[in-house]
Amino acid sequence: MTGLSRILIVDDEQSMREMLSYALDNEGWEVLTAADGAAAAVALQTEPVDVVVSDIRMPGMDGLELLRHVTDSAPQTSVILMTAHASTDTAIEALRLGAYDYVTKPFDVDELKISVRRALDEQALRRDNQLLRQELADRNSFGNLVGGSDAMHRVFELIRRVTDSTSTVLVIGESGTGKELVARAIHYNGSRAAAPFVAVNCAALPAHLLESELFGHVKGAFTGADRHKEGLFEAAAGGTILLDEIGDMPLEMQPKLLRVLEDRKVRRVGSTSDVDIEVRVLASTNKNLRAGVESGKFREDLFYRLNVIQVDLPPLRDRLEDVALLAEHFLERLRTETDVGVQGFESQAIASLEAHDWPGNVRELANAVRHAVTMDPGEWISVASLPPTVVGAEGAASAGLVRDAVDASGRSGPDSPHGPLDNLDLEAHLDGVKRDYMLRALEQSDGVQTRAAEVLGMSFRSFRYYAKKFGLGDGADG
Ligand SMILES: Nc1ncnc2c1ncn2[C@@H]1O[C@H](COP(=O)(O)OP(=O)(O)OP(=O)(O)O)[C@@H](O)[C@H]1O
Ligand SMILES: [Mg+2]
Repeated sequence: MTGLSRILIVDDEQSMREMLSYALDNEGWEVLTAADGAAAAVALQTEPVDVVVSDIRMPGMDGLELLRHVTDSAPQTSVILMTAHASTDTAIEALRLGAYDYVTKPFDVDELKISVRRALDEQALRRDNQLLRQELADRNSFGNLVGGSDAMHRVFELIRRVTDSTSTVLVIGESGTGKELVARAIHYNGSRAAAPFVAVNCAALPAHLLESELFGHVKGAFTGADRHKEGLFEAAAGGTILLDEIGDMPLEMQPKLLRVLEDRKVRRVGSTSDVDIEVRVLASTNKNLRAGVESGKFREDLFYRLNVIQVDLPPLRDRLEDVALLAEHFLERLRTETDVGVQGFESQAIASLEAHDWPGNVRELANAVRHAVTMDPGEWISVASLPPTVVGAEGAASAGLVRDAVDASGRSGPDSPHGPLDNLDLEAHLDGVKRDYMLRALEQSDGVQTRAAEVLGMSFRSFRYYAKKFGLGDGADG
């Protein structure tokens, strides 16, 4: 609330109301009065009040009842109660019910003024804190992007400046650093938000298919082209197209793309006429395009055409101060998606996360949090529930999780157990090894079992069988 602070005095004695009105009004506060609890409740409905000063003993709705009403309907409002008979029991009951303070009659008006002022000051402080927290949240996020590091603040600032322009933006970063999220943030925070956002993976298709995918084709353009087809550039009309993994675009496609970017026209494969297009172009890559230019894999002219504005996403290991924030963010997202009872992370777990070097960047972190929530039905996520790939051999061993070694980087294979073999349970040992590999493959594949199976050269059937046996996810996908 801005402006004058508003105080509501509630007392069935008129002389008391008048005396207090006069005294509090003198302090520069706006004063309202009510003769009983019911009248006070009505007054509160029509006007927001900062502090209620109420007698406890009143006919009808008494002070305690009014207090209950206020804490329910206007929790921001502080209540100070006046009690005539020095009945500390009632006073303590009042505090328990959420009263801010009480004064016992007869009291010095100054005593009451001090209490009111203190209540107002605390409210102001709370409001400031809230504002500050909100500002911090605004500063540490942009769209769905979260980050508190200087590097990410610079990224947010840059995004903010380019959302409403039409210039081409090249987003560069290792796999899993959030390139697609940046592209989406640019689109959805700009004036094109209502128009389509189309992402196309330039590495996924051979040149001739990519061309018809991007630009469309006419009926009969090639065998199999049995009807006209609109390309993705046209589909994105008025909106944004993201050319993902542009660094892997086949060389022979590159001059065709360059022409489209320069002329703002596309020609469907097999057609003789051009279509004007109005599309904002974003591109992303985890490759070093300049190196690509030098080695002849990427056309220099296309590189300069795309590289008008560059957003550089640093790897997560270079902004470890974002780790805790991101971990909380992903946990919060899981909490809203499912009803997990997890409250947060133990500080040791956060320390472990911050000590990891995150070769898979933010995606790996998101998967680690999902893993932990699945593993840990408890209230607080502990080191023991983090993936062995994250905490390394030491953490996992000390947490009693895996007997089979995954080295500190989490990326080399398991060792044979040392020492005499007479007590070795080979089956169990191999199961442990298999389980670790499957977990890592799952993490690498965003939890998609078919992909994880492929990574390990396993059949999906057998992957699913073991996933079930080892309790890795529910096998619902695939
Ligand atoms: N700053 C961030 N805040 C919140 N989530 C993020 C952030 N960065 C990445 N993510 C999440 O991490 C995952 C990977 O992000 P994204 O797909 O944008 O990465 P990428 O750089 O495009 O990866 P790739 O090169 O493998 O395609 C996504 O689930 C994304 O939502
Ligand atoms: Mg991507």
